Amino acid sequence: MDAIAALQSRRSIRTFRPEPVPRELIEKIIDCARLSPTARNAQPWEFVVVTEEQSRRGIADLTDFGRFIAEAPVCVAVFCRDCKYYIEDGSAATMSILLAAHALGLAACWVAGDKKHYAREVGSLLGAPDDMKLVALIPIGYSDMAPKPRKRSLEDVLHWEKF
Ligand SMILES: Cc1cc2nc3c(=O)[nH]c(=O)nc-3n(C[C@H](O)[C@H](O)[C@H](O)COP(=O)(O)O)c2cc1C
Repeated sequence: MDAIAALQSRRSIRTFRPEPVPRELIEKIIDCARLSPTARNAQPWEFVVVTEEQSRRGIADLTDFGRFIAEAPVCVAVFCRDCKYYIEDGSAATMSILLAAHALGLAACWVAGDKKHYAREVGSLLGAPDDMKLVALIPIGYSDMAPKPRKRSLEDVLHWEKF
């Protein structure tokens, strides 16, 4: 799948089959994430890959709109060291993970981390140092779902020269 096709067909998927995801695929996905753009080349990110069911259930139970994390065989927690552009850097890395997963035939969904009441508690559960901000949780797995886009049209959002 080329990059344009991946961008045009990616969707958030919240239903997963239980089969495990090969380790090489997860490593490839995180390799893509570490190459994301990052302000001042700070690379403040750390990625915790959670496969143990008990941990995934623990994380899922802490969230409000991420209960389906329990059903995905993998959940990637994207953390960033607290620095000026941590949210932008962590979001860029999160997007890379979503797109890499999709390009590899995997389903994923961005579950909010930053600004959420559970961010600190998820960090503690995963042993993250206190200065680490949880940017996103990303359940990943195989899925039979292929939802259609529900997005504003190009004409609606595209403005040439002026708003
Ligand atoms: C910052 C952010 C936080 C999100 N948090 C959640 C969440 O907690 N739970 C969830 O199910 N989806 C979450 N999403 C996914 C959005 O609901 C989804 O991207 C949106 O509905 C558009 O659908 P699409 O990704 O299929 O295009 C989040 C997305 C972003 C960018």
